[in-house]
Amino acid sequence: MLRFSFHSPNPNHPSAKTLDPSPVFRSVKTFAPATVANLGPGFDFLGCAVDGLGDVITLSVDPGVAPGKIVISSISGAPKLSHNPLRNCAGIAAIEIMRKLGVRSVGLSLSLEKGLPLGSGLGSSAASAAAAAVAVDALFGSTLTAHDLVLAGLESEAKVSGYHADNIGPAILGGFVLIRSYEPFEILPLNFPADRDLVFVLVSPDFEAPTKKMREALPAEVGMKEHIRNSSQAAALVAAVLQGDARVLGSALSSDVIVEPKRAPLIPGMAAVKVAAMEAGAFGCTISGAGPTVVAVIDGEQQGKEIGDRMVEAFLVNGGLRAKATVSKLDRVGARVISSSNQ
Ligand code: HSE
Repeated sequence: MLRFSFHSPNPNHPSAKTLDPSPVFRSVKTFAPATVANLGPGFDFLGCAVDGLGDVITLSVDPGVAPGKIVISSISGAPKLSHNPLRNCAGIAAIEIMRKLGVRSVGLSLSLEKGLPLGSGLGSSAASAAAAAVAVDALFGSTLTAHDLVLAGLESEAKVSGYHADNIGPAILGGFVLIRSYEPFEILPLNFPADRDLVFVLVSPDFEAPTKKMREALPAEVGMKEHIRNSSQAAALVAAVLQGDARVLGSALSSDVIVEPKRAPLIPGMAAVKVAAMEAGAFGCTISGAGPTVVAVIDGEQQGKEIGDRMVEAFLVNGGLRAKATVSKLDRVGARVISSSNQ
């Protein structure tokens, strides 16, 4: 099993060699996927990437920008986001990578296309940070490790969303990622077998659930009974991922007795949406990240469509919320370069 530990010395790290690298491209375009954090009992330590949804970044060398600096030249799909790179999750991650690389001689401009709604529980801030981190690294020749990229993204997450890597880890690496420890920082990618099917039904209601507010709803302490229950289900979840068992994975992610009971009442209709998903045949259902998106899992795309329709209907009838369903598979790649140019 691959593992990334904060303390592993990396002889290929650019800081061990030259600083102020030259760009190898004039511009690069990157994509980073949406992520589902927590997966029920994996609160703050487990997440996975899902395909089809995500953010795109175009990053260019710009002689009009002061050397060593970055500007955000355009943002589409999210009018509320700041163009100040110090207050934008893509900008913060990009600056962090520029700092790690020691970029001093060229200025950069970044353009962000938001494919993910803000505050939706789909790792929107992490997708922007991941796409930005990979873009800066790629522009200068892709010398950094995945671990470096995740840590840069975590800096960004800590400033805009909270100190948790269960979105940024899988947004960078793809697949399932377990955050084993924050001090020291250590993550373990978990391989869901390639010959097994896993389908996510993501239902996003027209409702805002800011992560900060949803974290404030959590208990400061938990009882021993709940601790045992959640630990055993989290362990089952990890085993199910490694065995490619969508049925056990679903029942484990459905069994959180600590976080979901506190957050579900803050999302109108959530309890009924979960019942609708299970009655329609889902293996399990819970809140995606901090919500309000609700995620159900199954092992076939056709059933996924039917389950999504039932969940959308339940949001409308029981929560008075319009919602949109997306059926996605696991994204096994994570943040990636989709094109590069020297023009
Ligand atoms: N683990 C975080 C939370 C994820 O649930 O607060 C936020 O996307």
